[in-house]
Amino acid sequence: ELILLGFGNGPELQPLLFLLFLVIYLAALAGNLLIVVLVVADRHLHTPMYYFVANLSAVEICSVSTTLPRLLASLATGDRTISLQNCIVQFNIYIILSNTECLLLTAMCIDRYLAISHPLRYPALVNGRVCGHMVAWAWINGIAYSIMLEAFILQSIYCGAKELDVLYCDFGRVYRPFCGANIRTLQLVTSIYSIISNILILLLTLVTYICIIVNILRIPSSTGRQKAFSTCSSHLIVVGIYYGTVITKYAVPVIDAIFQKVIDVWFLIMVPLLNPILYCLRNKEVHQSLRKARVALVAFRHK
Ligand SMILES: *[C@@H]1O[C@H](CO)[C@@H](O)[C@H](O)[C@H]1NC(C)=O
Repeated sequence: ELILLGFGNGPELQPLLFLLFLVIYLAALAGNLLIVVLVVADRHLHTPMYYFVANLSAVEICSVSTTLPRLLASLATGDRTISLQNCIVQFNIYIILSNTECLLLTAMCIDRYLAISHPLRYPALVNGRVCGHMVAWAWINGIAYSIMLEAFILQSIYCGAKELDVLYCDFGRVYRPFCGANIRTLQLVTSIYSIISNILILLLTLVTYICIIVNILRIPSSTGRQKAFSTCSSHLIVVGIYYGTVITKYAVPVIDAIFQKVIDVWFLIMVPLLNPILYCLRNKEVHQSLRKARVALVAFRHK
């Protein structure tokens, strides 16, 4: 049995936090589900960009559902224990989802780059099949990484403290609780993997966005520029906030436990809400699709 300290045990704050997280959880579920349903149902949204957006939303639905329900339950009941087994499962699922998410964001970036920089060849370059391959690779990478971690963890024993000062089972920051012959190798492998993959992804994203912006600036008409920019600005905001948070979370040394928790909360809450907020509020196609859905719903009710 482990104890996740979470928000501590100030009883005054628990109901408030419970309510807050419940509302956010339901909003994230509803918003992301809406995006998936719209993209699946509306033929106008059957484009690579929206396939990626919907896949990202599906990942977010799974992601909030691995972390928040347990947090909600512990806020509601005051029971902060979790079995080591469950904690490891939660950790593994979380790892799969966050790796997949990262790669999906990168795929979206490449998709936007090709759409803006090579508009004529774009339909031939990025079709449903290519898109499907990219999505599949994102998942395969996440799952393979998690299996590798699991293989190491299974060979080691838990030798850390019973109490972890975290909101959900994130051993990434606390590999120390595992002991065993191979744990050094694990630390080395995970550090190298995360440094290389993060730097590669970050560089790729940066370079791609610089190319995108240069290409947009080259467009002669200002409406054309605006249109090109609007198709990638939502993604740029998502990527900016996502990596901003990840970098603060892992690169900034532990400044202070409270600060870490604030970042964790921001990550748990904001990232899953970003997709629905940005794409529903800012994209004309999604607006139109929503309007059509509403009209269809009203017509259905009158029948
Ligand atoms: C995810 O992407 C694949 C491949 O492009 C697509 O067929 C599928 O519909 C997408 N998933 C969702 C939930 O939209």
